[in-house]
Amino acid sequence: MHIMCEALVGDSILDVALANGIDLQHNCGGVCACSTCHVIVKQGMDTLTEQLDDEADQLDEAEGLTLDSRLGCQSRLTEDVDLIVQIPQLNASIAHLFHEGATGA
Ligand code: FES
Repeated sequence: MHIMCEALVGDSILDVALANGIDLQHNCGGVCACSTCHVIVKQGMDTLTEQLDDEADQLDEAEGLTLDSRLGCQSRLTEDVDLIVQIPQLNASIAHLFHEGATGA
């Protein structure tokens, strides 16, 4: 399943998911105290905010951790480019995050 989303620079992946009706879990409310907002970034990792130590520590607890894993609440968009993000908890659903003004399908 592919879900197309619009997003703005500064939004977190969690913000974008929730604004678009995607049920990305966020048990701690987005304060980097759980790992339920785990996502896998398929495209655009280098355009997200840098991963800090707190996020890395929480990510260690995530099920299905990969080298491209991030916490959705801690990953913010820094550039106006397209992202592709997989949400493991939704059985490999894919979210395409298109920034405002981006073109394409
Ligand atoms: S919602 Fe808990 S770490 Fe992101």
